[in-house]
Formats: sequence, C-alpha cells, structure tokens
Amino acid sequence: MTEREARWRGSVSRRKALAGLAAFVTGSEHLHGQRDLFRDHSRVAGLDEMRDVFDFEAAAYERLDRATYNYTARGGGSEFTVRRNRDAFDWVDLVPRAIGGPGRPETSLDILGTPLQFPILLAPSAAHEALHPDKEEATYSGCTEASATPMIVSHVASMPFADIAKANGGPLWFQLYPSSELEQNREPLVSAQNAGCGAVVVTIDQQASFYDREVHDRNLSLRPRRPARYSGSAGRYRFASRRMWYEWRLFEGLRTMVNVPMLAKGILTREDALLAIEHGLDGIIVSNHGARTLDYTPSSLEVLPEIVEAVQGRIPVLADSGFRRGSDVLKGLALGASAVCLGRVPRWGLGSFGPPGVARILEIVQEELAESMTRCGTASLAEVGPSIVRTHFP
Ligand SMILES: Cc1cc2nc3c(=O)[nH]c(=O)nc-3n(C[C@H](O)[C@H](O)[C@H](O)COP(=O)(O)O)c2cc1C
Repeated sequence: MTEREARWRGSVSRRKALAGLAAFVTGSEHLHGQRDLFRDHSRVAGLDEMRDVFDFEAAAYERLDRATYNYTARGGGSEFTVRRNRDAFDWVDLVPRAIGGPGRPETSLDILGTPLQFPILLAPSAAHEALHPDKEEATYSGCTEASATPMIVSHVASMPFADIAKANGGPLWFQLYPSSELEQNREPLVSAQNAGCGAVVVTIDQQASFYDREVHDRNLSLRPRRPARYSGSAGRYRFASRRMWYEWRLFEGLRTMVNVPMLAKGILTREDALLAIEHGLDGIIVSNHGARTLDYTPSSLEVLPEIVEAVQGRIPVLADSGFRRGSDVLKGLALGASAVCLGRVPRWGLGSFGPPGVARILEIVQEELAESMTRCGTASLAEVGPSIVRTHFP
C-alpha cells in the first residue's frame, strides 16, 4: 500500500461516510417535502392522479421550461379571446334528464371517409419536439392508443409527415399553410397524400403570424432566432407577408393537387362558410386558432349556430378553440358541430407524460363526453341537438 492510499484509508471510515450520507438524506428538504402532502409544491403528481385536463396543464407547467409552456398557453393581443373561448362554455347550459340513456351511448361516426370512435380529433399544432424528444411520433402513438383518435399533423411539425405515418396507427390528416406560389404547395401535399393522409386541412386564418408576446418576451423562442420576413418596410412589429396573400381562388389551384377531402380551417362567419362551399371545400373548421391570431374575435361556440344554419348540412362543420372537457365537446355538438378538435389539450398530455399522457388525456375527455351524453338522456350522437342546451351568449 502506498503512503497516499494509507492516508486515504485512514481519513474516514466507510461506516462514518455512510452515516454522514444517511444523516444528510434524512435531513434533506426534498425527503421532508415528499411527506408533506399539503404543500402544493411538495411533489409532482403522477399520471394516475390526473383527474381532468386541467391537472395535466399543471403537470405540463411543472415539467416544461417556461418558454415552451408559454408558447402553448398564450394568445394574441390582450388575450381577451383566450378568456372568451373558455367563458363561452359558461354561457351554454346543458339540460339534464333525470334518467339517462340505457347503457353506454353510441359515439362512433364517419367524417369524410375517416372513421372515429368519438367525435374528437387532434387539431394541428406546431413543433412537438419542444414537448417531447420523440416529437409527433410520440403524439401519434398516444392518439392511436386512445381509440385511434385521428391526428391532424401540422405543416410545421418537427418531423416529416411520412415518418409519422410509418407507425401505421390511427387516421392521419395533413394541415397545410398555403404558399403564394402555387407550385410550392405541391411537394407537401403530394408527400402527405402518398403517405396516406385521409384529408387535407388548409389553414387560412393565420394571416398575422406574429404573437405580440413573442415580441415582448425575449425568452419565447422555440428555435434559434432568424431574421423574419416582414411585409413592407421591415419592422419588428409587422406581420409576415407570406400569410397576407390568401384569396379564395387559391382553393381551385390546390384542388388540382388534392385527391382526398379538403377542409378550410379558420372560419368564423356565415359569409366565409358559404364562400368555402362555393369554392368546393368538403368541410370547414370553425376556429379562431385558439385565440392566437386576431384578438377580440368571438369564440367558435358563439358563431357555430349561425354557421351551421347557413351551411344547411351540405358539408361537415367541425369546431375548435377552447374545448377542454367532454361536456364542452357535447355543447359544440349540440350547437351543430359534427366533431371537435383539441389543440392545447394534447400538448399538455405530451408535455407532461409523453405518449401515455396523450392517451390518458384523450380518454378522459372521451369518457366525460360519454358521461355527459348519458346525463342529458342522449343514447347516440344522432340524438344530440339544440334541445339539450340553453344558450345565454351576451
Ligand atoms: C402551440 C400551438 C401551435 C399551433 N400550431 C398550429 C399549426 O401549426 N397549424 C394550425 O393550423 N393551427 C395551429 N394551432 C391552432 C390549433 O390547430 C387550434 O386551432 C387551436 O389550438 C384550438 O384552440 P385550443 O388550443 O383552445 O383547443 C396551434 C395552436 C397552439 C396552441
């Protein structure tokens, strides 16, 4: 044994070291915190403790860095419409029946050739890589597990549509942010269709693609900052010119590249709904983009009845923006939507618990929908109509 080894062995005994470590651990605030269930920040809740969608939002808040949480949560301007999207559900009562329907309600349907076990789809949302290392593949696996919930893949996903589709799970649709140069749309449209997308959703509402918060919160950046392209003279507070050119006739050009059903996303007026039919769309999504574009628009829920009345059943009317609970979905259906898309909800599931989080959060909303239908005495989607709601929109 060298002199140095001898000194080391004599310095502190193994027993002493272990005793010291044990004393440190037992005195640690972390261990103490685990025992104190009443301190709200004492521990991070587990997947089995999640009761509703809002529990997942809290869990995602705990797990994600602030910039990523904010990117999902925030909206445009003063966020009046963010609040209004949720308030709108308070302005719609559900009319309960004392004795519910017999057994489990029938919730399956077909939309434009896509089979759904529940009238619920995943709205397209960007850049899942910020939420989970397996990106959209992880989201898709959660959707497939939750009764093959259809997923609308964003044009600005973190991985190519074809790579997501390789998993061969539930139905996939593709969302396009159209380009002004018609030919530039061909590649994303053709590759998504070759990979088996069941429908194409063309988002036409995000003409101003700039979130005020993004300007003010310097930390809010999912990707390395690049100089943005602004319309007119360059200025930090201008919006992107590439989303300012949309004209209805773009759909005639896109139609030559799309062989599956095509929907327009971002409709908020009866006039635009009628224009969508006139220009050959197979469906529309009533949406204010989760209040991430123009602030002070109405919520989707408020405008749904007039849009559904104008459309007169000619094409399916889907809706999103603000839907969180199964009872919210039921309200949307009662006001005439064929199905509802969830935007932030699955992002919270993915950001908190990965694929099992996506699956569980969707299953919770699905179960809440079935329960609400039963309590309102509706045994099938066909029985869901305006008679089960009373609206008090301002
Ligand atoms: C973080 C985030 C990213 C989004 N990215 C897209 C997108 O890439 N394409 C698109 O059409 N809509 C996008 N949306 C809008 C959603 O498709 C959907 O309209 C909206 O989230 C619905 O509102 P909700 O979040 O209250 O459910 C995004 C929404 C969020 C929250």
